[in-house]
Amino acid sequence: MKITVVGAGKYGSTTVQRIAQAGYADEVVMTDIVEGLPQGLALDMNQSRPLERYETKVTGSNDYEATAGSDVVVVTAGKPRTPGMSRMDLLVDNAKIVGGIATQIAQTSPGAVVIVVSNPLDEMTSLFAKASGFPKRRVMGQAGMLDTARFQDKVAEKLGTSPLSVDAITLGTHGDTMVPVPSMVSVDGKPLGELLSEDEIAELVQATRDGGAEVVALLKTGSAYYAPSSAAAKMVRAVAKDSGEVMPVCAWVDGEYGVSGTYLGVPAKLGRAGVLEVVELDLAAAELANLREAADAVRAKQADVDGLI
Ligand code: 2OP
Repeated sequence: MKITVVGAGKYGSTTVQRIAQAGYADEVVMTDIVEGLPQGLALDMNQSRPLERYETKVTGSNDYEATAGSDVVVVTAGKPRTPGMSRMDLLVDNAKIVGGIATQIAQTSPGAVVIVVSNPLDEMTSLFAKASGFPKRRVMGQAGMLDTARFQDKVAEKLGTSPLSVDAITLGTHGDTMVPVPSMVSVDGKPLGELLSEDEIAELVQATRDGGAEVVALLKTGSAYYAPSSAAAKMVRAVAKDSGEVMPVCAWVDGEYGVSGTYLGVPAKLGRAGVLEVVELDLAAAELANLREAADAVRAKQADVDGLI
C-alpha cells in the first residue's frame, strides 16, 4: 500500500504523520515544491519511529517520480486562508495548483484513489476530477468528516459532556452552504431536540459553519490542521483498508437526494475503489432543501472553475 500526500505544509505533513504512525501503509511519500522541506520533515518523522513504535517509512520528494504507482493520493497543496478571507477567495490561485497536480498524478498514478482537501473544497475536488480524467468514484474531497467533528465538539462543549457521546453528521458544502443536520444529532442516544432549544441548536449550526474561520482568525497565518488531518487520515484508512465505512465526504452525486451532476458533501461508503455508494439518509424537509441549495451553489461555481483549466 503506497500513499502519497501532495503538499508538505502543516495540513499535509500532519496528515503524513498520522498515516505513517497508523502503521498499515508500506510507504508514504510526501511531495512539495519547496526544496528540502519534504525531505527534512520525512527525516524527522522517520526518527520518531523507534519512539512511537511503528515501521512505515516516509519519503520526502520534490518530484512526482517518487509518487509513481500510489494507491491513494491526498492533495493538500494550495494557499490557505488568512483572516477575513473566505475559502472561495482562493479559487483562482488554487485552481492552477490543483489542476497542475491532477495532470501529474494522472500520469504517474493512473489507478489511484484521490482525496482532495485544498480549498475551496467542493470546487477543487470537481476540478481535480475533470483535469485528471479519473472516474468520479475515484476522486473525492474531505470536508464532511471535519465539519462533523466540529459539530460534535461544539455540541459536547455546550452540554458539558464528552465529545465521544455525540453522534452527528454534516453535509452540503465546505462553505456557506454547509448543512449540519440537527435531526441526526444524538447525545448518549438522546435526540438533540430534547436537550437544547431551537435557537441554541441554530447557534451551534452556525458556529459549525464558521468553525474553520474561527481557527483562522485566531492563528492569523494559515488555517486549521490538527482536526483536518485527522479527518483526511480516517478517509485514507477507509480506502486503503477497503473498510466499507460510511463517512460524510464530497462525492459525485448522480440522482441521490434528487441531485445530479455535481460534487456535494454526502454520506458515502468508502473502499479500495473509492466511493462505493452514496448513502441516502432520511433528512428533515428543511435539511433536504438546504442540501439541494448547496448542490446548486457548487454547480453554479463549477462553470467558473471549468474555465480555469
Ligand atoms: C478548515 O475548515 C482547512 O478548510 C479547512 O479548517
